[in-house]
Amino acid sequence: MAPNNSLPLTLLVSFFLVGTTFAATNFYQQVDITWGNGRGMILNNGQLLTLSMDKTTGSGFQSKNQYLYGKFDMQLKLVPGNSAGTVTTFYLKSAGSTWDEIDIEFLGNLSGDPYILHSNIYTQGKGDREQQFYLWFDPTADFHTYSVLWNPGNIIFYVDGRPIREFKNLEGFGIPYPKSQPMRVYGSLWDAEDWATRGGLVKTDWSQAPFTASFRAFSDSNACLYSNGASSCSSNSSSNAWYSQQLDSSNQKVLKWVQQNYMVYDYCKDTKRFPQGLPPECTVRST
Ligand SMILES: *[C@@H]1O[C@H](CO)[C@@H](O)[C@H](O)[C@H]1NC(C)=O
Ligand SMILES: *[C@@H]1O[C@H](CO)[C@@H](O)[C@H](O)[C@H]1NC(C)=O
Repeated sequence: MAPNNSLPLTLLVSFFLVGTTFAATNFYQQVDITWGNGRGMILNNGQLLTLSMDKTTGSGFQSKNQYLYGKFDMQLKLVPGNSAGTVTTFYLKSAGSTWDEIDIEFLGNLSGDPYILHSNIYTQGKGDREQQFYLWFDPTADFHTYSVLWNPGNIIFYVDGRPIREFKNLEGFGIPYPKSQPMRVYGSLWDAEDWATRGGLVKTDWSQAPFTASFRAFSDSNACLYSNGASSCSSNSSSNAWYSQQLDSSNQKVLKWVQQNYMVYDYCKDTKRFPQGLPPECTVRST
C-alpha cells in the first residue's frame, strides 16, 4: 500500500472549509434503476440506493436528467469483505458513437487488500486515459464523497474534497474536450473478474454473493440541466463559482500529494503502452 505520508496541517484545514453541501437527495426523483431485475433498490424515503450483484446479474441506475457541465457529488460505501472481481461505478456518459465519458470505478479486492479507484476520460469516443489510485481510508467501512467537477475549463475528480486528478481543456492544442454532448450520471455494480483484481488473477468468490454497494447524498444542484437541445446555464453561468472553478495553488499541492503517495497507475507514464509516443495531453505544457 502507499507510504503513510501525512498531509500538511494547513492543507487539511482547507478541506474543512471546502466542506460538503448536503442538498436534499431523493433518488426516486433523481434516478431510474435501469437494470438488475430488482437488485437495485431505493430505500429510506429516497435517501439511500443500494445495488446488489449475484451470479445471475449485477444492477445499475441512471439519472433522469441530462447535464451539460456540473459538479456531481455522490457518497458511496463499497462492497465489504471479499469484493475481488466486483466493480462499483459512478460515472457520466453521453450517448452515441463518439461519446464523452468521465469514469470513476472501484475495483474490489480480497478482504484487507486495497481497493483501486480506477478513472478514465473519453472524448469523442476515445478513452485510454486511465489513472488508478489507492485510497487513504477503508472505503467499505463508511460512506465517503466522490465528486466530478466538469466545467468548460477542466474536469477535476475529488475524493472527500481532495482533488486526485485533473484534465484540462486543451482544445487549443487540438485535444478534444467534452463540451457539446449532454451526459447522464450512472452507477452500477457488475462483475469484471477477468480484469478487475490484480489484472484478473483473483476471481470473484460467488459463495460471498450477494455483493452490495450503497449510494447516498447525490447532489446535482450545481449543474446545468440539459433538455430540448438547450442547457439551463447557457444564458448566464458566470455567477456560478463551480462553472469557472479550477485548482488554486493549495489544491495543486493536495493533488500532487495524492498523486505522489497514492497513484498506482498513470497512462501518461506508460511509455511501453504508447511506443509511438505518449498521448498529446501528457506532454503539452499549457501553463
Ligand atoms: C489488491 O491487492 C493486491 C495486493 O495487495 C494489490 O497488488 C492490488 O493492487 C490490489 N487491488 C486490486 C484492484 O487489484
Ligand atoms: C451574468 O451574471 C453576472 C453576475 O451575476 C452579471 O454581472 C452579468 O451581467 C450577467 N450577464 C448576462 C448576460 O446576463
